[in-house]
This record gives sequence, structure tokens and C-alpha cells, in this order.
Amino acid sequence: MSQPLLVVEGLVRDFGSFRAVDHVDFEVLPGTIHAVIGPNGAGKSTLFKLITGSLKPTSGHVTLSGESIEGKRAHAVARRGLVQVFQLSSVYSRLTVAESVAASIVSRRRRTLDVVTNFHRTALREATAILDQVGLAERASTIAGTLSHGEQRALEIAMALAIEPTVLMLDEPTAGMSPAETRATADLIVSEVRGRGITVVLSEHDMDVVFGISDHVTVLHQGQVIADGTPEAVRSHDQVMAIYLGHGAAKDGGAS
Ligand SMILES: Nc1ncnc2c1ncn2[C@@H]1O[C@H](COP(=O)(O)OP(=O)(O)OP(=O)(O)O)[C@@H](O)[C@H]1O
Ligand SMILES: [Mg+2]
Repeated sequence: MSQPLLVVEGLVRDFGSFRAVDHVDFEVLPGTIHAVIGPNGAGKSTLFKLITGSLKPTSGHVTLSGESIEGKRAHAVARRGLVQVFQLSSVYSRLTVAESVAASIVSRRRRTLDVVTNFHRTALREATAILDQVGLAERASTIAGTLSHGEQRALEIAMALAIEPTVLMLDEPTAGMSPAETRATADLIVSEVRGRGITVVLSEHDMDVVFGISDHVTVLHQGQVIADGTPEAVRSHDQVMAIYLGHGAAKDGGAS
């Protein structure tokens, strides 16, 4: 059995007197798709921010490939290979689709974007190859900010792929998508993200996606892990069914 790539131990985050993440433990094995699910307000996004370094934990430990990363800043965590898909910023939204991905490639190599160098042309060529994989090749010259919602989310995944992460964290990758876009995104995560050997940690409200693509599921409720295991084990877990799946959140009732 392989060693876990990401280990979260006793993670706690308080906002004043409110405990949003309450002694969370879980392990992510390399090369897997690991879903974190739970009703609205369960603490999923807060947990992701604690892991990626955009929020500091009150206490607890996070290790990536055996190295402690808790409390480190997001860019330091990203340099170690753990990346969260970022929302298109206003700067990126004014670049074309291909330039946005090229900018990610450039940031990975920590070189300045210079429109006249060969390097820029190489990055654009590489960007085109990635866009092909996420189904955006035909949109390469389109201004990123004018893409449809589903296309923008695909572009965000393309930009994250361009950084060549070890672990990619996706917080609700299918939120607001049509059923067709949701299916395309699930396929993309399986074929182009895990297919490249990238480990995926995702939060998701669409249970068809969760149980269709995940290797492992951790269930949060009121900041605590209430179940953790294979999709089959979690699906038949009494407390999960009672608290979460039982009252209509299974398909779209809990989506946000
Ligand atoms: N910065 C903050 N200050 C105070 N409370 C916060 C803050 N961020 C999150 N919370 C609270 O922490 C709890 C967990 O929020 P979080 O966004 O992590 O939930 P979630 O599981 O991602 O929910 P959703 O499914 O709706 O995205 C919520 O009660 C939320 O109101
Ligand atoms: Mg959330």
C-alpha cells in the first residue's frame, strides 16, 4: 500500500467563538480522486483554504510528501506542488484564453512574460496543447472574460494544469454548470487531471460526480469528519444517510 501524499491531522479553525473546522483528520493517497463532501456550511471550503495556505489553522498539522506545510503561505505551498484552482482574476479575464494558460506556464518557470521572446512563443505553443486537452482549443484567441461559465471553469483547470501540480484541489468544480458541462468536467478530471498522475482533492455537491469518479470520500458535518472510506462504504453509512444524503442534498438540494 502506498504512503499517503497528503496527511491532515487534528486540523482546527475557529472564527471567533465559532469552530468551522473541528479536529479534522484524513489522508490522501497518491494518484487518487479524493472527495470531501458535506452539507452547506460543513467547513469544506475553510478546510481547503487551511490546506492550501490561504487561511491559517488555529491548530493541527498538514503534511505534503512528508513535509509540514501548515501555516505556510499559498505560494510556498504551491511551490511544493499543491495548487488550488483559482478563479479567473480580472487581469487574466482581459487576456486571451491561450495567453491566460501561457501566463500560468510562465509563472511555473518564474520567468517574466515578455511578448517578444521565443520563450513566450514556446509557452503559447504549450498552452495550445493544454487547451486541446480541456476542449478549449477553438477558443484560444477568445478573451477569457467573455467565455461561458463552464468554459471559464475549464480554463481555470487548464491554468492549474499548466503549473504541473502534484495535488490539485478543486472546490466545487461543477458549481453552476449545466448537466452537459458537469459531465464534461467530471470526464476532464478523470482523463486529464488524474490521467496525468495528478492527485485530486475535490469538494462537490453533485453526488453523481462524487460517486461516479471518486476513489475515496470524506464526509464533513459541522466541521467534523463523520465518515471516511470508499464511495460504497460512505454511501451506506447510517449517519451520512441520515444527516446528508437523506434529506434531498444528494442531487442538488445542497448545491451552492
Ligand atoms: N471568514 C469567516 N468568518 C466567519 N465565519 C466563517 C468564515 N468563513 C467561513 N465561515 C463559517 O464557517 C462555516 C463553514 O463554512 P465553509 O464555507 O467552509 O462551508 P462549506 O462546507 O464550504 O459550505 P458550502 O457547501 O456552502 O460551500 C460556515 O458556518 C461559515 O459561515
Ligand atoms: Mg464551500
